Amino acid sequence: MTEPSLIIAPSLLAADFARLGEEARAVEGVADWLHVDVMDNHFVPNLTIGLPVVQSLRKATGLPLDCHLMIEDPRRWALGYAEAGAANVSFHAEATDDPVGLARDLRAAGALAGLAIDRDTPIEPYLEILPHIDTLLIMTIKAGFGGQEFIPALLDKVRTARRHIQAGHLQVRIEVDGGISADTIAQAAEAGADAFVAGTAVYGAEDPAAAVRALREAARRATGRP
Ligand code: DX5
Ligand code: ZN
Repeated sequence: MTEPSLIIAPSLLAADFARLGEEARAVEGVADWLHVDVMDNHFVPNLTIGLPVVQSLRKATGLPLDCHLMIEDPRRWALGYAEAGAANVSFHAEATDDPVGLARDLRAAGALAGLAIDRDTPIEPYLEILPHIDTLLIMTIKAGFGGQEFIPALLDKVRTARRHIQAGHLQVRIEVDGGISADTIAQAAEAGADAFVAGTAVYGAEDPAAAVRALREAARRATGRP
């Protein structure tokens, strides 16, 4: 089985919210996915953007949208994001008691189904549902805010999940989110992540496109993968 290429997903959370279309286009042609953090001020204390903005973004950029739902009751909202054209929709394990059912519905709506695991949630209870999802989003910070420091100990969850995925011959991406930069991406890639969200490291840089290229180069060097 050939390994899929690495995915770099700039997070708009660190972009200028008054210019989201331009900020998205700044990484077109170099990024693989555009990560959109949806926060509801309940599941996490922060409040960001919702479905109407994602619908507008869908028209503003050709990049696949990677929607990370940090919201309560994802069953109520998640399918709307798939119907709006999101390529991947990740909901939090802590926010639902039926991850398999929601993943099935997301796939039926034409999106990849992602399961997100926050900082304090163990991975073990979710290993058995890996065959039902496409993306496993492992937080490398506590979800809620950008610009936090990467927590290396959380990569143990990436290693455990990667072993399980390999042993089961599953096709599940492992995406890491939080504190990913040119300094931390190599260790996440070595642990087995193959999709990398980066907010501050991309949109806090002078040249976001160059920052994406540098991230990809560092992850490639660490893994030898395209
Ligand atoms: C935080 C979000 C992240 C955030 C990461 O809860 O899920 O996607 O944008 O930001 P950085 O890359 O700055 O840690
Ligand atoms: Zn995120």
